[in-house]
Amino acid sequence: MGESGCGKTTCGRTVLKLYEPTGGSIIYDGKDITKLNPNAMLHYRRKMQIIFQDPYASLDARMTVGDIIGESIDIHKLMNKKERLERIHYLLDKVGLNAEHASRYPHEFSGGQRQRIGIARALAVQPEFIVCDEPISALDVSIQAQVVNMLEDLQEQLGLTYLFIAHDLSMVKHISNRVGVMYLGKMVEMAESNELYTKPLHPYTQALLSAIPIPDPDESEGRKRILLEGEIPSPIDPPPGCRFRVRCKYAKPICAEKQPEFKDMGGEHYVACHLFS
Ligand SMILES: Nc1ncnc2c1ncn2[C@@H]1O[C@H](COP(=O)(O)OP(=O)(O)OP(=O)(O)O)[C@@H](O)[C@H]1O
Ligand code: SF4
Ligand SMILES: [Mg+2]
Repeated sequence: MGESGCGKTTCGRTVLKLYEPTGGSIIYDGKDITKLNPNAMLHYRRKMQIIFQDPYASLDARMTVGDIIGESIDIHKLMNKKERLERIHYLLDKVGLNAEHASRYPHEFSGGQRQRIGIARALAVQPEFIVCDEPISALDVSIQAQVVNMLEDLQEQLGLTYLFIAHDLSMVKHISNRVGVMYLGKMVEMAESNELYTKPLHPYTQALLSAIPIPDPDESEGRKRILLEGEIPSPIDPPPGCRFRVRCKYAKPICAEKQPEFKDMGGEHYVACHLFS
């Protein structure tokens, strides 16, 4: 998770090799896929899919819903015509739509329904891993829970792994096993979900967590909300040293000089901050 513009979509797309990374490596199921050529990558393309951030922009308005869902089946030449149609109907049913929707066009659907179509498209070729790029942030609050619940059900039924991108921590709490927090293009903290919510180490994560509303007024009263001050620097020209420095109340001289390393503090709880080095 991370604020708008911090590089979440860029990171998710790079993991899928839709963007070429300028550094680092992508390890999928124990294999380094960073330098695979497009041909060798085809095998992984089928296993790795994406649900896009904006259900309005991500569905081709000139294609029927059936063709949108069936497109990747065609690309991978997986099925004959009859099997393809059966699969499309099966998927529409799976995401809470029905077979007759296959011949309609995206503009005939609401935002929530369009995102269901996007999910059906991602599931079409039986992937193992799906990058869910803020799949609910463009939807009405009342629809958000429905879509998250559906994603959770599908995960359980189909044994899927998600990289679930969100811009606030409350949204990812229930769906995540592990949470990574990004700031200005860099990961600043990563830990098992419960650990991150109960023992946040990075000053940025602490500020984000303090901003989550607590429904219980007694509990909420005793808690201090940390207000972040200062402008977010431009990701094109980040400040030297720690990128969070201009907004951090613990900043010390070394923070301006040296970028903190992303370090394991034990139990796979990683943090990049000079307070812990
Ligand atoms: N690590 C990086 N290296 C180079 N450019 C980056 C990096 N991270 C982000 N950017 C640039 O920052 C801009 C915003 O990135 P991106 O769209 O990935 O943000 P986001 O977190 O998905 O934002 P939103 O929440 O608004 O969707 C892009 O123009 C991208 O090219
Ligand atoms: S490295 Fe320094 S500026 Fe950055 S978060 Fe830690 S204390 Fe704050
Ligand atoms: Mg994005």
